Amino acid sequence: MPISLILLTVAHAAAAIAWAMVTWVISRKPAEEGRKLFLPQGAAAIVTLGAGARLWTMLHAGGTGPVEMLLGAGAALGVLALLAQLFLRRWSVKVNKVTFWMLIIALVLMELGKQLKGL
Ligand code: HEM
Repeated sequence: MPISLILLTVAHAAAAIAWAMVTWVISRKPAEEGRKLFLPQGAAAIVTLGAGARLWTMLHAGGTGPVEMLLGAGAALGVLALLAQLFLRRWSVKVNKVTFWMLIIALVLMELGKQLKGL
């Protein structure tokens, strides 16, 4: 596996976990405190989606099988979570609680897709 692919995968997975963790922390705080974590949350989201998009073009461009269905569903949840965090009440406990679970489901779908590919 080329080193660029390894680095991209590690950056993607680490940023995805960081994004979910920051979102969870914000969902447990009053909105005024959660506001302070908006930058780390946004940075983790951008790295997750940016690296994910690059991985997709390197590994799955044009694919339409079950692996791509799982990855695509996870990706769609990630994009929806970002839109909700940007355009709904972004520091509200409710938005962050819901998007936290969207990110956990995205993580599970991505991991399932990855495992299915290896079968
Ligand atoms: C634009 C959105 C996204 C795209 C296009 C995308 C794409 C991908 C691709 C192509 C892979 C590699 C699959 C393979 O090895 O064949 C991957 C892996 C993975 N993705 Fe995403 N992803 C996105 C968002 C997310 C989100 C939101 C999460 C979780 C919050 C996530 C978590 C993961 C995880 C955990 C892996 C497996 C890493 C590993 O075990 O090596 N991704 N993703």
